[in-house]
Amino acid sequence: MNFENKNILLGVCGGIAAYKVCELVRLLKKQGANVNVIMTKSAQYFVGKTTFQVLSEQKVLTDLFEEDSLGIQHIELASNADAVVIAPATANIIAKLATGIADDALSTTMLAVRAPVMICPAMNSDMYENLRVQRNLDVLTNDGFYVLEPDFGELACKVTGTGRLPDPQYIIDRLDSFLAVKDLKNKKVLISAGPTIEAIDPVRYISNHSSGKMGYEIARSAEKRGGEVTLVSGPVSLDSPANVELINIESCDQMAENMLERAKTADIIIKVAAVADYKPTDVASEKIKKKDLKNGFNIAFKENIDILKTIGKIKTKNQFLVGFAAETDDLEKNACLKMENKNLDMIVANPIGVPGAGFKEDTNKVQFFYKDGSKEDFALMEKKAIADILIDRIVARIG
Ligand code: PMT
Repeated sequence: MNFENKNILLGVCGGIAAYKVCELVRLLKKQGANVNVIMTKSAQYFVGKTTFQVLSEQKVLTDLFEEDSLGIQHIELASNADAVVIAPATANIIAKLATGIADDALSTTMLAVRAPVMICPAMNSDMYENLRVQRNLDVLTNDGFYVLEPDFGELACKVTGTGRLPDPQYIIDRLDSFLAVKDLKNKKVLISAGPTIEAIDPVRYISNHSSGKMGYEIARSAEKRGGEVTLVSGPVSLDSPANVELINIESCDQMAENMLERAKTADIIIKVAAVADYKPTDVASEKIKKKDLKNGFNIAFKENIDILKTIGKIKTKNQFLVGFAAETDDLEKNACLKMENKNLDMIVANPIGVPGAGFKEDTNKVQFFYKDGSKEDFALMEKKAIADILIDRIVARIG
């Protein structure tokens, strides 16, 4: 979801995690959202009303009887909201929402809300696991609220367990996913990302600069649109995307082994990975010693399987196959040649050497080429935004 001009109503309750919600407001505002905050009385023991007022640039509602003269501000907030987030959601507000109690500004407003609601519980782990709290959360889930599972870790009470409020950015990602149109529902999406590494001996390998960022954003985007996503990934240092089956591999052979079988049942296959075209002919079982290398370090290579080309040969007309091409020259010609040779429906080409594009960057500059001969050229933008556009285009083409 693009949060630009979206009205997000944020309910803050009394828990130590209330301080983390300040950052949530800042991030939502940064993404263009209008944020209105309602605080419970207990929330104000943890964070001052002024803090949220400054961060949201809006008046914060704390008391129904302090509002405007007509006494309807809470109704306006409820009806204007595109989405509601309650964070941290205490056992108290969860119980009130589950039973329909309206005895303060937040619980009363919630009865007038028609927008999608995300609940972010955060509390001591024994409280969270308490039967009545769980029963109330089940009621909310059945009512269509999205309950975000708290994190496991050390809690403010020094107990280690489940009850931590997840990081603000993660809350935003899950909200984005919750609100997205589910136009990939029932679609199996198979994605590859990152580099492959090809062993020379137990300590050395050849590889490339792929960070996995482009592929992981595509996996996140496909998941939020309701796709059943499998991500086959080379070694990267990225957080695993939520609700995605992640298969970690190292070599091209391992990537092939994990992709070829799954490709048979996938509806959409997107090969973002930078796969090593060659691998050492022999892998030494022990570390190659410098003293044994009389004529320098000479490695013989043999060709790796071309996974995408193999999938292109077996793909059915109902499957949509996307390749990527990172090129230093003749971008269009080289990318289109790959699309043809590998029997792709579409190829995403990115130039290497252009500042902000290609490997490791958070941004990329891409061109889309389609097998019907049409093409699209995009300005430099965040890989996340490219991922969303790519999924839009795929959805439009699979119908
Ligand atoms: O991971 P990041 O740091 O975010 O960087 C993203 C990226 C630059 C790696 C990505 O945007 C990208 O361009 N990936 C493709 C890299 C590339 O140039 O691949 P290629 O031209 O070697 O291969 C073309 C296509 O065939 C690719 O889809 C590749 O996955 C596939 N291939 C290649 C060789 C092989 N043996 N098997 C394959 O399946």
